[in-house]
Amino acid sequence: MSDHRLDAPIVICSNRGPVSYHSVDGELEGVRGAGGLISGLLPLMESGRARWIAAALSEEDRVAAALGLPERFGPLHLLDINTEDLDLYYNVVSNEVLWFLHHGLLDSTYTPDYTDEWRTAWQAYRRVNTAFAEAVCNHGPHGATVLVQDYHLSLLAPLVAAERPDLRLVHFHHTPFAGPGEVRLLEPTARREILTSLAAHHACGFHIGRWETNFRRCIEDMHLPSTSTFTSTLSSDLGAIREVAASPACDAALAKLTERVGDRFVIGRVDRMELSKNIVRGFAAYERLLGLRPELVGRVVFVAQCYPSRVNVPAYRRYRDLVVDTVERINGRWGSAEWTPIELADVDDFPASVATYRRYDALLVNPVRDGLNLVAKEGPAVNERHGQVVLSSEAGASVELAGAADEVHPFDVVATSEALSAIIDRSPSERRARSEQLRRDIESRTPQDWLADQLHAAE
Ligand code: G6P
Repeated sequence: MSDHRLDAPIVICSNRGPVSYHSVDGELEGVRGAGGLISGLLPLMESGRARWIAAALSEEDRVAAALGLPERFGPLHLLDINTEDLDLYYNVVSNEVLWFLHHGLLDSTYTPDYTDEWRTAWQAYRRVNTAFAEAVCNHGPHGATVLVQDYHLSLLAPLVAAERPDLRLVHFHHTPFAGPGEVRLLEPTARREILTSLAAHHACGFHIGRWETNFRRCIEDMHLPSTSTFTSTLSSDLGAIREVAASPACDAALAKLTERVGDRFVIGRVDRMELSKNIVRGFAAYERLLGLRPELVGRVVFVAQCYPSRVNVPAYRRYRDLVVDTVERINGRWGSAEWTPIELADVDDFPASVATYRRYDALLVNPVRDGLNLVAKEGPAVNERHGQVVLSSEAGASVELAGAADEVHPFDVVATSEALSAIIDRSPSERRARSEQLRRDIESRTPQDWLADQLHAAE
């Protein structure tokens, strides 16, 4: 391994950039984005080593890009992509098809349909990837390492390699990677182009071995030459989440929450309003618990912070309606004037989400399938009640946390309900031991470790 590469300049490419712009009193204000990808990669920008290329996702982002405002946050290029292409690349190809495919959410009786509209969307996906590749070629310093993030940007590598053989490209998938059987559901041209282009990176990274193995099996299934892969688990930025937990805004949110829930046992969840998060089965498990243990009625509250996501995709809007209807039905059936069984907040309020982390007695993290899941790591980092975690066996985080969490299969409503019931009965000493173990597991890695693994993969 040559150490030269570790010091090479860096270019980061991701669909969503580290900063998004909003208009406040007629002035454009840049707000740092949330999420693991950003906290893992932002230190590179702060060190002045990296430049970041992302899509301008809103009208305000576009205006900011035109005015050159992003430079204030480090060398950031927000690509001004026409809104129609952006919609088809992001909502149709990336989120309706690739996201669903990798999370096992396709219902093949009905979706997808590879119609003329799909072909138009696929061409838009190709054009947006080409725009990113051109930006890398134009702005990438000589000999740079290019860190390409996620399923939106699968097609860059061959385009960049043809123009700029001096650059090394590493791809990191934050989602699961589906196995060859599922990936065969992809339209054949798109499947071939995505897998061939991913394989053209210097290396492809995944959070856990299962997604890496699936990718390698897909490459074999296409009879493509084998390619270099690695696994590296992302960690939460514990400093940043603890800073929010210690903020006056979070204290105020916790005070309000305490006023409502009192000393009841709190089951918490914090998620995007997202189909893969399995929110409805979580409520079904809770309802089963209320039915089987009448002494819990009025003594337990489910606090669900489910903030809006991908609202332009119809399936997300339908899922939101189902979540809201389910909550209304359960609250109508079990609730009373003094007690609301499920408190659902479907707004983006990060201090309130972190207040839920601080207060929960049991955190439910039961995704259908998840590349990693940072909620399972953020919650225990700031929880103040020796809270327990019920964790899906299909979340990448279960590889690290299975020992101290209560693992359940995400479709198993009975097992999920029983895991919650067992936690309620668990002794304080066992709760303490498990929560301390969770914290040790979580603290054993940092976002910098993940970053270093990507840079090493470029060697
Ligand atoms: C997942 C993806 C990320 C993405 C995030 C939010 O975690 O792996 O790349 O940023 O979801 O999704 P959004 O579509 O809002 O960017």
